[in-house]
Amino acid sequence: MSGSHRRVDCGEHAPLPVLAVGAGAMGRAWLRTLQASPEVELVGIVDLDTDAAGRAAAELGRPDLPIGTDAVTLAARTGAAAVVDVTVPVAHHPVTTAALLAGLPVLGEKPAADTLPRALSLAAAAEVSGELFMVSQSRRWNPQVAALRGLVQDLGAVGTLTTEFFRAPRFGGFRDAMAQPLLVDMAIHAFDTARYLLGAEPVSAWCSSWNPSWSWYAGDANATALFTMADGSRFSYTGSWCAPGAETSWNGAWRVSAERGTARWDGETEPVLDAEGLVATDRPRSPHSDIGGALEVFCAALRTGETPMGEVHENVLSLAMVEAAVESAATGRPVQLDDLLARAHVQALAEEAHPGVRAALGGWSSVREALAAGAGWVRPVGDRRIRADSGSCGSSSPADSACGSS
Ligand SMILES: NC(=O)c1ccc[n+]([C@@H]2O[C@H](COP(=O)([O-])OP(=O)(O)OC[C@H]3O[C@@H](n4cnc5c(N)ncnc54)[C@H](O)[C@@H]3O)[C@@H](O)[C@H]2O)c1
Repeated sequence: MSGSHRRVDCGEHAPLPVLAVGAGAMGRAWLRTLQASPEVELVGIVDLDTDAAGRAAAELGRPDLPIGTDAVTLAARTGAAAVVDVTVPVAHHPVTTAALLAGLPVLGEKPAADTLPRALSLAAAAEVSGELFMVSQSRRWNPQVAALRGLVQDLGAVGTLTTEFFRAPRFGGFRDAMAQPLLVDMAIHAFDTARYLLGAEPVSAWCSSWNPSWSWYAGDANATALFTMADGSRFSYTGSWCAPGAETSWNGAWRVSAERGTARWDGETEPVLDAEGLVATDRPRSPHSDIGGALEVFCAALRTGETPMGEVHENVLSLAMVEAAVESAATGRPVQLDDLLARAHVQALAEEAHPGVRAALGGWSSVREALAAGAGWVRPVGDRRIRADSGSCGSSSPADSACGSS
């Protein structure tokens, strides 16, 4: 079972040297964030397309930045002590596994992996390596979401949580060709936010997806999904990616209907409470926002050894919600999350090439238990929990030079 991750002196005495892997659209946003952070020092860019990496380095005003096609090799050359994985989803598993097993902690873009079995493999690889793998689920890192979570706690038992997401973007590229562009590429943000808001995990999913006649996507641009959560509440998501007019925020529009009243969030401005006689608890505002917030939390977790929100064990159930919705849409039947997780576990064991990772996966008696034990769950930053066994610091890796105590 997992222990805490190795501590790393992230920006405490000197900036942490990091590599960015993936210099595409999102990779370039990450490069700007890494460049601006006082806690890390960008020491190289990795991409299979070295021209793209070179262009990204030039855009940053750093044309001499070391460039490579393999993160572990470039880390050895540059002294990088951590990796930010912003590759395409199908590359998340190979890139992040190699980095973790080479002793490099990883902050990775969502989704954890392109499939649930590969996400389980990554959770096991984090256990085997003792390195932190945190998934940057950027829309969770929003002070307004944190404020809404506070209101949910004030409102008592939740009956229904709803999200509406209606937009009409014309991306071009891979999303236009996906079978489930909305559910797989976008809805994971809302599913992840719902888990965070409710502090409850999904039990079952029902979903219908379809593609309107005017859609410019090959796959289903519309979906409605209903999740039963472990606290008895229901989370309902309705979205469309070809919905011209009256567009919602990219965060969607949210309503929490609860025992003592209602809270609403338009995804852009402060959430609003409508609950007679209820005064919201005064809570400190979350300092973390977007991918810069995820980076701050990753660095803090490396320094302290604490398990951050978004650690892979904690994040996996957001991807499981996506796969459950996709399966339900395909079969027309509800999906029990435990069944889905058990099947993913069998598949992960069958596909696993690394003996140590296979042994770790084989030691899981139940996926839920393994995920809960690994996540140390779910303590938002500000509600701190330090593992008793945190602070181990010892593997022969490119990161050893940065291994300090705090
Ligand atoms: N959080 C958000 O709001 C948000 C928004 C957009 C994208 N994303 C996520 O960011 C990730 C990247 O998306 P994108 O839009 O930048 O994609 P992209 O296709 O624009 O860029 C991906 C880059 O990864 C490179 N790459 C692929 N395989 C690689 C490998 N094995 N090693 C090194 N480089 C490799 C490609 O050459 C490409 O340059 C995805 O996981 C996506 O889901 C998140």
